[in-house]
Amino acid sequence: MSAGRARLGPVLIAWRAASVAKRFDAGRALLGELVRELTGAVDVEIFRDCPRCGADDHGPPQVRGLPVAVSVSYAGEMVAVAAVRVVNAAAVGIDIEAHGSAHRVDELGPLFAPHPVPDLRGWTLVEAALKADRRGLNVDPSTVRLDRAATTILGEGFAVSRPDDADPVTAAAAPGPEGFVLSVAVRASCAAGSPAASAGAARPATR
Ligand SMILES: CC(C)(COP(=O)(O)OP(=O)(O)OC[C@H]1O[C@@H](n2cnc3c(N)ncnc32)[C@H](O)[C@@H]1OP(=O)(O)O)[C@@H](O)C(=O)NCCC(=O)NCCS
Repeated sequence: MSAGRARLGPVLIAWRAASVAKRFDAGRALLGELVRELTGAVDVEIFRDCPRCGADDHGPPQVRGLPVAVSVSYAGEMVAVAAVRVVNAAAVGIDIEAHGSAHRVDELGPLFAPHPVPDLRGWTLVEAALKADRRGLNVDPSTVRLDRAATTILGEGFAVSRPDDADPVTAAAAPGPEGFVLSVAVRASCAAGSPAASAGAARPATR
């Protein structure tokens, strides 16, 4: 499936196949679609502002002047994006990995040693959570704890605890393209967790 859509609670998700050379632009175009859908805005500008050094050529993507949080992830020739209104979540993270190829035990081993490396799902949940946290891999991923929770803003998922940050983060498996593992996480805002925000959890839809 080269393109698709899903929804997890208040989070809109989209993915599309694109060559490595074109996946950045493809992802920005998909983000534009989701933000327009959530806000009705015509002009959507996505920019980056690194929370560590202030540079605008890397770091978490943001939407200028609109109350929407966004995230993007790449795996080979696939790009996946997520967007949520900030009334429902202060930040969102998405991570996609290809089945088989990406579970690079050699690569991840040192990050988790002496603890065991999580499986591919676990790794995408951790990466999505650290994107929602906005510190990314500046947080030692071996210190991230996932506690299964039956009811979250994303439906069935995990409460994520990280060192030095009390803001609740929730992560969950998301529907995605065949052959890939996709996970999404949100950092809570004041209104997050309300019944209205939880409505419509885990509603996949593809095109
Ligand atoms: C974010 C991170 C976990 C992504 O890892 P990855 O699996 O290699 O890459 P993915 O394809 O899944 O995601 C890439 C996207 O992550 C996003 N991203 C980068 N840093 C981020 C952060 N701190 N928080 C949330 N999202 C971030 C960007 O949107 C990027 O895509 P874009 O550059 O096209 O906008 C990892 O690169 C990281 O931790 N980066 C931070 C490093 C850092 O702080 N550098 C600061 C230098 S001053």
